[in-house]
Amino acid sequence: MAVGEQELHVEIGQRRYPIHIGSQNLNTLGEVLTQTFSASPRKVFILSNPTVADLYLSTAQASIRAAGFEHSDAHVFLMPDGEVYKSLDTFRDIMDCLVAQRLSRDSIIVALGGGVVGDMAGFVAATWQRGVDFVQVPTTLLAQVDSSVGGKTAVNHPGGKNLIGAFHQPSAVLIDIATLNSLPPREFLAGFAEVIKYGIMADADFFTWLETNLSKILERDANALMTAVKRSCEIKAAVVAEDETEQGVRALLNLGHTFGHAIESHTQYTRWLHGEAVAAGMLMATKLAEHCGYVSPADAHRIEQLLIASGYQLQPPQDMTPDIWWSLMARDKKVKAGKIRFILPTAIGSAAIFDQISADQLNAILA
Ligand code: NAD
Ligand code: GLY
Repeated sequence: MAVGEQELHVEIGQRRYPIHIGSQNLNTLGEVLTQTFSASPRKVFILSNPTVADLYLSTAQASIRAAGFEHSDAHVFLMPDGEVYKSLDTFRDIMDCLVAQRLSRDSIIVALGGGVVGDMAGFVAATWQRGVDFVQVPTTLLAQVDSSVGGKTAVNHPGGKNLIGAFHQPSAVLIDIATLNSLPPREFLAGFAEVIKYGIMADADFFTWLETNLSKILERDANALMTAVKRSCEIKAAVVAEDETEQGVRALLNLGHTFGHAIESHTQYTRWLHGEAVAAGMLMATKLAEHCGYVSPADAHRIEQLLIASGYQLQPPQDMTPDIWWSLMARDKKVKAGKIRFILPTAIGSAAIFDQISADQLNAILA
């Protein structure tokens, strides 16, 4: 079913960039580049991976060429597929390619893929010749509702995830929700956890809408996906506009992530997808908030029910003892002045940062 196109904007101080959302609109990439970069046609370099390239590269390339940009097959780098390749080694390989191509400062980098490709392309764009323009074309649900918007770019280090990075905002984001039809079910569900997150932390009406339309979303109904992606991007854009570099309110986007990161780290990033761990983490955050009296049992129940109905595995690994939880959570990037900061729901549609959770309170829910 055809669904109407939507355009949102991320406003950061004097800067502003569009998020174009539609279905079957990947072939408008050239048009988006023309609108975004009104100056003379420039060279376009695409970063993707073989999985996504097989499905969508030719459409993207045809659109770029039709719009008159300089682009040949030599201006494509396919990084291997997988989180493990969001590394400094891959970064160096891409830089070698850019050097060989003599990519000039006015070139445009396009990220075509999920969050791994997007984070890598963003970091390359932030650092190549001290920063060039880039455009996000996210093809996973997680990337469409979260990682492509907001300018966090990074690569991993063996010592930790996303340890090396920069804030570098894209010049535009082009979302084609039809690309979600080829996404494996597990990846789709993992991305949906971030959508639920927005409902819990920012918008009670949206949460209710998710409860009512859950089956349509899980069936990937185009209209339902359009609403879910659009509302998620609106919330993310508003938070980023208020706090680009996470000095305050942006930390609320990490609801469920302190627990989730501990699960991912404990299982060496192999058994749980990020969104799966975030779903389990959001339930733990909700249980902790309920135990401390910050959220009502009725709201906590609704959050738990939506997570269960969505089909997540919500039981963290059995071998995670309280000591393991504590040591892993103490490494979280949100730790400040030695205190673990928890993002906890305070009602459906709101969340807050808590840094005075006692060991007894936390141990009660870890047990
Ligand atoms: P991913 O990029 O690894 O994509 C998941 C899998 O889906 C991959 O195998 C990929 O090739 C495949 N794929 C992508 N699009 C497809 C499509 N349309 N059809 C079929 N297969 C497709 O994973 P992800 O969940 O998109 O992103 C995870 C990354 O995002 C992590 O590295 C995480 O740190 C990062 N992240 C960044 C931010 C941010 O703000 N920058 C926020 C959240 C997560
Ligand atoms: N994904 C969290 C953020 O962008 O801040």
